[in-house]
Amino acid sequence: MAYPIKKAVFPVAGLGTRFLPATKAMPKEMLTVVDKPLIQYAVEEAAEAGIEHFIFVTGRNKSTIEDHFDHQYELMNTLRKKNKHVQIEILEKDLPSAGQTSFTRQQEPLGLGHAVWCARHLIGKEPFALLLPDMLLQSESGALKQMMAQYERLGNNVIGLYQVPLEEVDQYGIVKTESEGCKIIDMVEKPKVADAPSNLMMMGRYILQPEIMMLLETQNKGAGGEIQLTDAMLKLLQFQDFSGVQIEGELFDCGSKLGFLTANVSFALQHSEFGDEFAANIRAMTNKDYFKKHTKKNKKTP
Ligand code: G1P
Repeated sequence: MAYPIKKAVFPVAGLGTRFLPATKAMPKEMLTVVDKPLIQYAVEEAAEAGIEHFIFVTGRNKSTIEDHFDHQYELMNTLRKKNKHVQIEILEKDLPSAGQTSFTRQQEPLGLGHAVWCARHLIGKEPFALLLPDMLLQSESGALKQMMAQYERLGNNVIGLYQVPLEEVDQYGIVKTESEGCKIIDMVEKPKVADAPSNLMMMGRYILQPEIMMLLETQNKGAGGEIQLTDAMLKLLQFQDFSGVQIEGELFDCGSKLGFLTANVSFALQHSEFGDEFAANIRAMTNKDYFKKHTKKNKKTP
């Protein structure tokens, strides 16, 4: 039987430069999609998949993440006095319990591989899940939960995969799988379109064996001058199996403004309180006259 996955790592040390000035004093993981910060979606997804220990690899200016997963006594007292039960439930629901969160720091932004390595002492000798909160899935069942069944069957390492248009492969880690089945036989970080082994990208969800930490320790810089997780996984592939799970649902890359805004619209349309009204507003906005008046030609950002 595969060793149960109880720990998850959330790398949240990134600078969020693509969202400045919003992220000048606030972590990008606290940007909200409708009414919930991105990091909360990722933590809820992990909890749904059975994770019990949430490990955040943070950096400077990230203390609000720590506060977000803590009790806010003053706020709770005020809400209690005002009998705001719905709001109290929203705040208490899914809050990790005492001892279920750990925070460690990545002092320098040296890359995703380095961020994961910063959690090595908290991981120890156990396999673990890794969730990149920028990637947000809208689906009935969370991505990590979708991967757990395969992990329980095959053990080893499991990566969440998603098909992207070929012209986008240079933004992601791309894998090659065996022509039949789910075994991963190659992977490359941000390949040129011409060199990409497929259009299957690693969509930010991983189940990894602890040996990855030893490989990350001696890791040289790779694509973009950063210590890449993909390069370490490629080394591990020589000794251990990796399998891929094609994730079902709508995936939004909230690391880009366009992906983040689209996620907001898509989640708002599904909102139980105001989804229908929001849809009507969007419909009104998308009539021809509105567009003539309000749309500008896209300028390419340098
Ligand atoms: C990272 C990984 C990449 C993966 C992507 C998913 O890239 O290195 O393999 O496809 O996340 O979001 P980053 O977004 O940090 O450049």
